[in-house]
Order: sequence, then structure tokens, then C-alpha cells
Amino acid sequence: MKTYKIAVIPGDGIGVEVINAAWNVLRVAADHFGFALDSTELDWSCNYYLKHGRMMPEDGIEQLREFDAILLGAVGWPDSVPDSVSLHGLLLPIRKAFDLYANVRPHRLLAGVLGPLRTPDFDILCIRENTEGEYCGAGGRLHQGTPEEVAVETAIFTRRGVERILRFGFEQARRRRGRLASVTKSNAQKFTMVLWDEVTETVSCDYPDVEVTRYHVDAVAARFIMQPDSLDVVVASNLFGDILTDIGAAIQGGLGFAASANLNPAGRGPSMFEPVHGSAPDLAGHGKANPLAALWSGALMLEHLGEYLGSRAILEAMEKVTAAGDVKTPDLGGTAATNDVANAVIAQMRVSRLEHLSS
Ligand code: NAI
Ligand code: MG
Repeated sequence: MKTYKIAVIPGDGIGVEVINAAWNVLRVAADHFGFALDSTELDWSCNYYLKHGRMMPEDGIEQLREFDAILLGAVGWPDSVPDSVSLHGLLLPIRKAFDLYANVRPHRLLAGVLGPLRTPDFDILCIRENTEGEYCGAGGRLHQGTPEEVAVETAIFTRRGVERILRFGFEQARRRRGRLASVTKSNAQKFTMVLWDEVTETVSCDYPDVEVTRYHVDAVAARFIMQPDSLDVVVASNLFGDILTDIGAAIQGGLGFAASANLNPAGRGPSMFEPVHGSAPDLAGHGKANPLAALWSGALMLEHLGEYLGSRAILEAMEKVTAAGDVKTPDLGGTAATNDVANAVIAQMRVSRLEHLSS
């Protein structure tokens, strides 16, 4: 039987609760579709930091390297560890070490979920460049605290970095509805974003079957609200993608649904899958967090591992549960617990399997 080695990092707060729920669902998918998930739980978190003075062991990255994928809950406990420490001590080093350059987030309204828009029929795959651009950290401050202070923060775009994220976007578009939106602000930013436009043009020659539209980021932000159904794959830089994916999460019903994959499409080292939300200290310990974003992230992980049937089974079961609307966590106006939702999804998967076996 095919066995995948998964590093599970629940992290802090509701990260622990939603990953526990997601893992129960993933185990059922493995059981139904004939593969095995061999998990190693790693307690790297803010608690770990309080005990050991670091977010993960010194050889943490080396430990992770041998896994097929990483499933992560959320990291952060601002009352005891500054966010800059927890983020820079765990998540960012993992993204960097394994060159997880594609941050992929699906934005779709599951059946039965009431989003804020009048257009419920959208299905957007946002692809955010995850390693360079505006967040590369190049800059500095001069004459700090004086009236003459100068601060510089330089966005760095490399042809290689831009080309690989666009190429990944084109590959995704080809597998979906064949449309790609390339997001820039090349009217105002005449160096980096013009490079991005030129690379888009060049790469598009290899994908004549994909229809490319170039948008400025402000225009595409409005389009997320006004005509989200006109978008398919959206490729954007680190900063633009960060902002657009928050709009994406909002229109799909909020953080309870926003899932993400941090991929190295070349498969060098493990990719990492995580809900977009944080550790939600306000909610932690009550067992009432919405686990659907974590479940969806688990489904993305199975898809990445090539277990398409298991991935689809989870998503279909989730959608049956949201469509029925009777098992909802408080963020959706219900009273259900995190585990109630996971159990409802598992029950749905069992029903679908029985239907399939008897047909
Ligand atoms: P957050 O995402 O944890 O919470 C924002 C709001 O959304 C809260 O009111 C929370 O209750 C609600 N919420 C989040 N996820 C939910 C879910 N699954 N079900 C129901 N409600 C949910 O963001 P916040 O409060 O800004 O950050 C808390 C901590 O998490 C901080 O330490 C922050 O640095 C960290 N964080 C970690 C992330 C990661 O690990 N990737 C991402 C975002 C924040
Ligand atoms: Mg963000």
C-alpha cells in the first residue's frame, strides 16, 4: 500500500483543534481509497518556544526534509511570544528552506454558505508568489527617529522567480477553465511590473490554449467583488496576492473556509498545507473553531500527493454538510463543535462510499 509520511505541526490555539479534526477526516479518506498516512506529530509552537527558547529544534528543517508533506495548523500566541518571533522562527524558515514559491488558495463558495456577494457562482484559484517581490526584506532606515529619517524597502523581482510562478499558473489554468489573470501595476511601477508583463507575454507563447488577461491590481480587486465569476486562475506577486487572497477569503464566507497550499511544484522537499487563519486566541480551548479551512487544506495535500479521489471525496462531503446546513460552527451562526463538523463530514464520506459500492 502506498504510504505517505506526513509531518503534522498543529501549532497553537485552534491550530491544534482544527488539525485534530482534519486528521480524523484524512484517515477516513486514506482508509476508503487504499493508501496510508503515516503521521509524525511535532509539537513546535509557542509552548515549545517557552520551554526551549526556540520555535523548533536546531535541526528542525533537516527533520522535515524526509517527509512527503507538512500539515500545519496555526502558529502564534501573542500574549507570551511576539508574533515576529513565532512567524520568523517557524513558518518563514520552512517556506524558505524548501523554496515553497507557490502559495495557492482556492476561493469558492461551498453550497449552502451565504457569502457577502450577490454572485455566488465563482471559482477562483489565487496563486501568490511566496519567496520574493515586495516581501523580500531588502531595505533599511537612516537617521532613525529624526526629522530627516529615510526608510527604503526595495521589491526584488527576478526573471527566474517571475517566470516560474507564471508557468505554474499557466499549468493550473490549463487544467481548469483555461483562463489566467496576470496581476501587476505596470502603469505605475515601471520596472518590476513591466518585467512581469514581459515574462507573462513570453511564457504565454508556450500556452496558446490559455487565455491571458492582464489586470492592474486595483481593477482586479474590484473585479473580485463585482464579477468574480469572470476569474479563473489569478497570478500575483507576494504583496498583491496577499491582499487579493484576503478578499478571496471574505467572499467565500470568511476565514473558516480559506485553505492554502505552499508548494514547491518541482517537488524538492515537502510542500506545506495550512488553513489561512491564525491560532484565534479568542476562540481557542472552546472546541468551536470552524475546521473546514483545515479540512480543505488537507484535501489540497491529498491532491498534491496524487490522491485525487480522496481529495475529491473530502471536498464533496464538506459541501454536502454545508448544503444541508444543520451542522454549523458559531462563525456560521450555528452551535456545533469543531468535532461535530468533522464527524458530519466523515458520516457523509461513509454514505457516499456505500452508495458507490452498491451501484
Ligand atoms: P486569526 O485568524 O487567528 O483570527 C481572526 C478572527 O477570526 C478571530 O476573531 C478568530 O476567532 C476568527 N477565526 C479565525 N479562524 C477561525 C475559525 N477556523 N473558525 C472560526 N473563527 C475563526 O488572526 P489573529 O487574531 O490576527 O491572530 C492570532 C494569532 O495567530 C497571532 O499570533 C497571529 O500571528 C497568528 N497567525 C498565524 C497564522 C499562521 O500560522 N499562518 C496566520 C494568521 C495569524
Ligand atoms: Mg494576509
